[in-house]
Amino acid sequence: MDLRDAVLTRRSIRRFTNEPVSTDIIKELVSCALWSPSWGNTQPWEFLSVTGDALQRLKDENVKALDAGKELNPDVEMPQTWPALQKSRYRDVGISVFESLNIGREDLEKRAAYYKEMVSFFNAQALLLVTLDKSISLAYSMLDVGLFLQSFCLLAHDSGLGTCILAVSVHFPDILRSICHIEDSKRIVIGVALGKPDKDDAANKFQRKRDNVDMFLKTIN
Ligand SMILES: Cc1cc2nc3c(=O)[nH]c(=O)nc-3n(C[C@H](O)[C@H](O)[C@H](O)COP(=O)(O)O)c2cc1C
Repeated sequence: MDLRDAVLTRRSIRRFTNEPVSTDIIKELVSCALWSPSWGNTQPWEFLSVTGDALQRLKDENVKALDAGKELNPDVEMPQTWPALQKSRYRDVGISVFESLNIGREDLEKRAAYYKEMVSFFNAQALLLVTLDKSISLAYSMLDVGLFLQSFCLLAHDSGLGTCILAVSVHFPDILRSICHIEDSKRIVIGVALGKPDKDDAANKFQRKRDNVDMFLKTIN
């Protein structure tokens, strides 16, 4: 796939098929994405590929935690407030997802079911977790992780796989630590759901939006 096409056609996938994702493919994608730039070539990232029984246990425990109303406790602080413009974009994407799935504003039952889907990684058959050693400052390493993630998602897309970067996947780090044997010295930064996109599912078909380039780019000659 042409790079430009890959950038323009990648989308967050919110429904995956049951087709398994092999560890070999994940290893190949990660090894290519390692060529992403990082501050001083520090390559601060570490990864964990979760599939099979471990992934299923993770999904089950996440759903149980949600049912029990367990408090979210991510290793990386979640933003609580946004300026109005960003808040409205954030709200927009939520509305688009719910509308695509015919979930009404008042339909608490369907909304709860959707959140269970999300903490089950939308049926993804693999989860790539990104960790950073706690001794590493978050300031630039978060940029580095972001660069890695975009490379990884584009490479996956190029291979016919879909991805969804999921903050939600790391909301219960104690569950991840116990099932995936992650040491306390590691900060669990983010997870990426990976799998074959279910192309017919409405959750994958709604129109994504971006503001016009002039909203973001000023030019000075
Ligand atoms: C750091 C980060 C965290 C995200 N967390 C979630 C999440 O928890 N749940 C979700 O459905 N999408 C999540 N997303 C996906 C975004 O909602 C998505 O990238 C955005 O709406 C733009 O849509 P697109 O990726 O299809 O272009 C996350 C994306 C990023 C970059």
